[in-house]
Amino acid sequence: MTTAIDLVKRGISYSPVGEFEEMRFEKIHNVIFDNSNVASVIVANEIAELIRKKQKENKKCVLGLATGSSPKKVYEELVRLHKEEELSFSQVITFNLDEYYPMDKQNFQSYNYFMHECLFNHIDILPENIHIPDGTINNKDIHQYCIDYENQIKEAGGIDFQLLGIGRTGHIGFNEPGSHLNSGTRSITLDYITRIDAAPSFLEIDNVPRKAITMGIGTIRKAKRIVLLAWGINKAQIIKETIEGDISSNVPSTYLQNHTNTTFVLDAEASSELTRVKTPWLVSSCIWTENLKSKAVIWLSELLNKSILKLTDKDYNNNGMSNLLIEEGHAYDLNIKMFNNLQHTITGWPGGKPNADETKRPERAIPAKKRIIIFSPHPDDDVISMGGTFDRLVEQGHEVHVAYQTSGNLAVSDEEALKFAEICQEMNSSEDMSNIIKSIQGKKKNAIDTLEVRKLKGLIRRSESLAATRYLDLPDQNVHFLNLPFYETGTIRKNMLSNDDVKIMCSIIENIKPHQIYAAGDLADPHGTHRVCLNVLFDAIEILKSKKFMDDCWVWLYRGAWHEWETYEIDMAVPMSPDQVLKKRHAIFYHQSQKDGVLFQGDDSREFWVRVEDRNRLTAKKYNDLGLADYAAIEAFKRYKP
Ligand code: F6R
Repeated sequence: MTTAIDLVKRGISYSPVGEFEEMRFEKIHNVIFDNSNVASVIVANEIAELIRKKQKENKKCVLGLATGSSPKKVYEELVRLHKEEELSFSQVITFNLDEYYPMDKQNFQSYNYFMHECLFNHIDILPENIHIPDGTINNKDIHQYCIDYENQIKEAGGIDFQLLGIGRTGHIGFNEPGSHLNSGTRSITLDYITRIDAAPSFLEIDNVPRKAITMGIGTIRKAKRIVLLAWGINKAQIIKETIEGDISSNVPSTYLQNHTNTTFVLDAEASSELTRVKTPWLVSSCIWTENLKSKAVIWLSELLNKSILKLTDKDYNNNGMSNLLIEEGHAYDLNIKMFNNLQHTITGWPGGKPNADETKRPERAIPAKKRIIIFSPHPDDDVISMGGTFDRLVEQGHEVHVAYQTSGNLAVSDEEALKFAEICQEMNSSEDMSNIIKSIQGKKKNAIDTLEVRKLKGLIRRSESLAATRYLDLPDQNVHFLNLPFYETGTIRKNMLSNDDVKIMCSIIENIKPHQIYAAGDLADPHGTHRVCLNVLFDAIEILKSKKFMDDCWVWLYRGAWHEWETYEIDMAVPMSPDQVLKKRHAIFYHQSQKDGVLFQGDDSREFWVRVEDRNRLTAKKYNDLGLADYAAIEAFKRYKP
């Protein structure tokens, strides 16, 4: 069987838990990758090796499988290995962790549908070897059904390899808080947070089933090998609690601490709350890169509630940073250096200040008039996340273009679309419009919109965007609607990125030859729309990087509505006056279909403009608390250097 040691042989840094000083807080073996794609390929390879090894021994290979966004890339790689490298699944038996209840197998929101679409339809597994809890089973038969499911696993010889994701509640499978260590397959009530997280796939929370059938903690723990995947910043907190916290039924994933062959495979964001990542100076002596120095000094200043210039030698020495002082001399010198670094991130001239000394500014002075593309994943992220900076760039005379990457049609409610369709019909009655009205009125719960309805919804967002960009004085010819194909499925489950998406991105960048690109640098779920929109930009940059104009092109990343960069990560901070805050608010208001009860709200009930104003105010406050000037609000950017 492939073990964690084998992972090392493939180049993954591995050390048994607790062997190294910096891992002393950790109770579960874990490996961290920069990128979830690379990590997924390595996990898929571990599975493939196990399948091949078992095949050689003439034995069946029993896999426990998960659904959700985390394992998608693993399945994609397994399909590739089957198609291109002759990996056969003919001797594989699979048991899926869970299924919503009640749930039809054909429903595109079912885990049954997901597994066939992502894996089973593309490999040579025998249908009788596939086991997925049945969401159609009669309520009174569930108990016996679950006992049978357990028995089937036993009869197959037990699970050789169990793939897991993790929910924000700490659920593995759907074992929600309160689950017992020895629980078996059973029906379970889903936690509210789990239902909120699932809401986008079901369009709204009320459509999310309240129950599920899940393998138990006991079932999972019997697996001979367990690999848990976690990607994105949204998983960082629960990963820390699971790896460093005490075992508790409140966080069922902590039960894995007692499993002797478990590895957590994390990306950088999901690992970011682990003590050795977040505050490495507290666990061992570290190599003090410039980045780590700012991280540590800002952390210390926030911890002690003191501005940077007031930190003393004693403060550093008492908080694990004495060796930083050995490198840097006295607190006084280090404080001034760090204060100046932060000061130099602040600029009211995001496109560079003409005729100014650029050495202490985040952007180049030349060319004074820059060509700029603001990429916006949905038609509103531009104004939500960087409306103030957008306004300044236009005012300061740059040639600004906005490129909306997706149509955003999915986030327009039926009621909103009906309103526009009825107005159109009233003004100029047509058969097409009457079909649209009929289609919306007769739509079944969770059904996919017709192409025409999707087109109408996309047009609504297009008009709203134009209203906002006109308000910011941008000529219409500088507004581009890319309608990237990966998004156009009519459901929350998007297509994989294709060459068509990348081509569209390359083409607009080549046409404009920008000096600056702004893009949403969201680090949450790698399959979420923002992340895909970022990946497609990175792919385009990779293709174009040898072109001459790309030498002059700087890429600035803003964060979406939910998060902000950590202060130490900010390379450019653009302050806003109270008037600019109001102007930004008005620009956001033009996106009326996204106001008042937005679809996909998540567990934050604030509207986008409120969220973002709170966030921009908080960034300004953090700067002020560190001892810098007191601004009303700040928009923050991190430079991406390919
Ligand atoms: C899915 C499952 C769940 C998910 C978890 C994370 O079969 O059992 O535990 O793994 O909810 O979901 P994603 O990967 O979508 O974040």
